[in-house]
Amino acid sequence: MTVTAVVGAQWGDEGKGRIIDFLAKRADFVIRFQGGDNAGHTVVNDFGKNVLHLVPCGIFYPNVHNIIGSGCVVNPQSLLQEIAHLKSIGVSCARLWISSRAQMLLPYHRTLDELEEKARGADTIGTTKRGVGPAYSDKAARSGLRMGDLLQPQWLEGRLDSALRVVNRKLEILGGEAVDGRELYGLLMECRLQLAPRIVDTVPMLRMALDAGNDLLLEGQLGVMRDLDWGIYPYVTSSNPTAAFATSGAGLPARSLDKIYGVCKAYSTCVGDGPFPVELHDAIGKRMQDVGQEFGATTGRPRRCGWFDGVAIRYAAWLNGMTGLAVTKLDVLDGIQTLKICAGYRLSDGSEITNTVPDTSLLIDAQPIWEEMPGWNIPTTGCRGWEDLPSAAQNYINRIAELAGVPVAYVSVGPERDHMFDRGGSPF
Ligand code: GDP
Ligand code: IMO
Ligand code: MG
Repeated sequence: MTVTAVVGAQWGDEGKGRIIDFLAKRADFVIRFQGGDNAGHTVVNDFGKNVLHLVPCGIFYPNVHNIIGSGCVVNPQSLLQEIAHLKSIGVSCARLWISSRAQMLLPYHRTLDELEEKARGADTIGTTKRGVGPAYSDKAARSGLRMGDLLQPQWLEGRLDSALRVVNRKLEILGGEAVDGRELYGLLMECRLQLAPRIVDTVPMLRMALDAGNDLLLEGQLGVMRDLDWGIYPYVTSSNPTAAFATSGAGLPARSLDKIYGVCKAYSTCVGDGPFPVELHDAIGKRMQDVGQEFGATTGRPRRCGWFDGVAIRYAAWLNGMTGLAVTKLDVLDGIQTLKICAGYRLSDGSEITNTVPDTSLLIDAQPIWEEMPGWNIPTTGCRGWEDLPSAAQNYINRIAELAGVPVAYVSVGPERDHMFDRGGSPF
């Protein structure tokens, strides 16, 4: 039995979806532990190219149970659309479950996300406008509705009434329209018809899975640099993508975690606002964007691109307690003569920092301290093992592992399932 968490080690979009799809062939359960449909997890396999938002990326294996954990915020309409799409391409959703304790993300959360971003004027966060921040705010304020409430209509009606008393005042202040409670209740009753059989208390299910020695994969959303506590606050999401939160959001005991894989790209990307010291505004950055197809999987926004950030990876590795790294998109760097890696930050007072990512108020003016490495001219997409890689690419990956202080377990050189291989020689 192994319980493995897969988490983003950068600013999100590292390729978590494709790693889960790769690893899930050996799993019995895949559990999304936080976030909502702000996620866009791309999977390319026999079913084509699909972007998953709420459904865990183990769904393409009919024998794997997929759970949307209690740490998530679930937009029922968006989930139904996703299920309909998956069914339309022949993917069975018979083993898709939703924790009854997961929060419900309602249409007014999206409206509030839009209105709050507008009210911030020039100080936007650059959210995906999927309502994730307002839904987690309501969770913390104890005015949220939970997926299990759909199973108890009378209780749900009372909770909705109580929530709307505050929500409608907020909407009024921000210039929005009041929500009609009856209409929303009717919509939720329609969702209930389709979702009720999937809403479960995950405790007995996962307890049995652990007792039976099953393999569990915990799927994170976004990455540590957008973690609510450890990311570039306030330019963060409203949940915790780091591994310490994985067991809680999945509904497992904290000590059940055996392995923690951090996923990172061979360079850096970031979508949304906030400091990003390694960002490139030149032809190399444009090339990364074009070759890497760096456009948000959920919003289509262009992703900001830059060189690999060695300080951020060290921070991510330590905070997550990573046991292994998965490095993706190595192929995007093919043909670049000289590669740069950020090995430290120079702060505005002239001091240098290498052992942590400083607070946002300092990071905003930080300048990267670069080191250079030779690139490679041979295309790597055809490589199917460590020994196939050009030695310059091996050296580059080894440097990433050294900076992180964690061995590289997997490398990917293209988006498809077989474009990924085990590093070999590592204990993972
Ligand atoms: P996630 O949110 O972490 O699952 O990542 P996204 O799906 O948002 O973004 C990763 C993008 O890179 C997707 O379009 C993937 O198909 C693509 N991708 C993943 N791994 C590789 C790789 O090794 N090479 C290339 N060229 N593309 C990759
Ligand atoms: P995956 O799981 C990249 C970013 C937004 C914004 C910040 C807060 O595919 O890696 P939110 O809508 O969560 O309130 O926005 O987080 N963001 C993502 N960036 N990938 C994602 O998901 C993201 N989800 C949110 O751009 O900066
Ligand atoms: Mg993504």
